[in-house]
Amino acid sequence: MKKIIEFLQLQFKKFAPVVVLPIAIVLFAIIAANLLYQPKKMLKRGFEIEFSADGKPVAKKEEKPVDFPSLMKLADLDRGAKIFKKCATCHTIGKGEAAKIGPNLFGVVGRKRASTSFSYSDAMRAKGGSWDAESIGQFITKPKDYVPGTKMAFPGLKKPQDRADVILFLQKQ
Ligand code: HEC
Repeated sequence: MKKIIEFLQLQFKKFAPVVVLPIAIVLFAIIAANLLYQPKKMLKRGFEIEFSADGKPVAKKEEKPVDFPSLMKLADLDRGAKIFKKCATCHTIGKGEAAKIGPNLFGVVGRKRASTSFSYSDAMRAKGGSWDAESIGQFITKPKDYVPGTKMAFPGLKKPQDRADVILFLQKQ
């Protein structure tokens, strides 16, 4: 019996480093990796409250789509003239100027739709009514949506402020 225990102790001493050391190394590596690569905890929780300089909380402003009249108030004539260059490929703007690919746009704000000598599309003729700033704004947002079947091959002005600027320019002619 004593011999067996001695034998086992000897075996243990011999093999302990061989078995225990690699296990220790692997365990250590796993723990180290876990510590290093802990997923980042959520940084923000709950509500964000801003404080103004006097320390009072400030309610966050909701972003509202700006209404057309406010856009027109901010409109810039010089920017409008620049943006009109996109339209000028097809439109003249001077009084009495000939039509190009599209009708002359002198005095178009307030003008009856499809009312110049230009050969309008049936869709535009059928639209009826007059152009005002707001409806021109809708038309040039995406012409094919406002007048399905229009001849005006223009994708539209995406930015509301660009539309307001160019409409101001049209109004001033
Ligand atoms: C690719 C050429 C082209 C471009 C660019 C273009 N248009 Fe036109 N536009 C037309 C044509 C063609 C018509 C006639 C549409 C129809 O008959 O359906 C028209 C019609 C119009 C009308 C209606 C006129 C009327 O007498 O009823 C307005 C307003 C107008 N365009 C504004 C603009 C503005 C503003 C821009 C620039 C943001 C612009 N267009 C860019 C070709 C163009």
